[in-house]
Amino acid sequence: MNLFDVYPINEVTIVKAKGSYVWDEKGDQYLDLYGGHAVISIGHTHPHWVKRIEEQLEKIAFYSNSIKIPLQVQLAEKLGKVSGKEDYQLFLCNSGAEANENALKLASFHTGRKKIVAFSKSFHGRTSLAVAVTDNKNYSAPVNETDNVIFLPFNDGEALEACFAKEGKNIAAVIIEGIQGVGGINVADDTFLRSIRSLCDTHGAMYIADSVQCGYGRSGKFFSHDFAGVSADIYTMAKGMGNGFPVAGIIIAPHIKPKHFQLGTTFGGNHLACAAALAVLEIIEEEKLMGNAVMIGKYLRDELNAIPELKNVRGRGLMIGFDVPDELKDLKKNLLWKQKIFTGEAKPNVIRLLPSLGLKKKDAEQFIESIKEEVNLLTTPAS
Ligand SMILES: Cc1ncc(COP(=O)(O)O)c(C=O)c1O
Repeated sequence: MNLFDVYPINEVTIVKAKGSYVWDEKGDQYLDLYGGHAVISIGHTHPHWVKRIEEQLEKIAFYSNSIKIPLQVQLAEKLGKVSGKEDYQLFLCNSGAEANENALKLASFHTGRKKIVAFSKSFHGRTSLAVAVTDNKNYSAPVNETDNVIFLPFNDGEALEACFAKEGKNIAAVIIEGIQGVGGINVADDTFLRSIRSLCDTHGAMYIADSVQCGYGRSGKFFSHDFAGVSADIYTMAKGMGNGFPVAGIIIAPHIKPKHFQLGTTFGGNHLACAAALAVLEIIEEEKLMGNAVMIGKYLRDELNAIPELKNVRGRGLMIGFDVPDELKDLKKNLLWKQKIFTGEAKPNVIRLLPSLGLKKKDAEQFIESIKEEVNLLTTPAS
């Protein structure tokens, strides 16, 4: 049997990983500033995370949600404490798309309405509703087409107000990434998020904060939406939540009351996933990783800003993007193959940095040296 060939693949096989480093089968070491797409939050194979999972594996790995699972309660308590959303309610699932799917469905259940507002360049996942609110028709099959989604320009307060003025009583939810990831690291304006909050309040709609990529401390705050100083009704989380163990969830404001069977999943919130997610929160807290994300993120942005060939350096904490002009189109490739540094990209010309929140200053410095070298080589005419 062949693999279903849906992923463009880099010709490298990673066999070992530790902290911000990975190694291929030839023993070559790479600096990982991509984190397997923003997933590695506390560092590869963090010893506490490994121990927590191993110990849990020896006890029980899985049982369904038909029994009491105290680890889920511990996780909810810890998440409430670390995120500051102590009065919210936790529903656990398995992936970012599933988190958004559940959030959108819950908003529709709660309001009894069908329309969802989403934004240009959004990415919310590949399942049916998640892909319907994603602004990329290439990911949608005919069956995903719906009239229930209204796309508006990102960060356009006037368009949002006009939309609510016209459709307000039909809108179940507004879904927005605090910092768009796949769309190219676009930060939602604090004023825009505040107007989402107030329009949702006025019209009885739900504000869904997609924090799948920009959440879990990556921005330097637990949720990047927190910068706006207002709370969402539902936050969705995935990537950094398990540091590579598949676990996702949504947290739900106290005014939204649960009903039996409204949401559900077989694997969501299993014992192993909870152990992994608890280990992540313990390390985020203990190693003060949000503070590190602020500090190292600022250092990286300042240094990148000082390289004139790189344009529009942006982002928050350790979620950073910059535009690469045409003459530097080989930069990402050269960073990987010549400098042995993994970075991410966003089409057509954006490089994204999504490293572990524990990235060390010396590694950030190594990256800056390497990128300067590659930029110089690419911009110096061959003699
Ligand atoms: C903002 C955002 N939401 C949702 C998703 C979907 O997550 P998953 O691939 O785990 O379904 C992603 C994945 O990249 C994402 O970046």
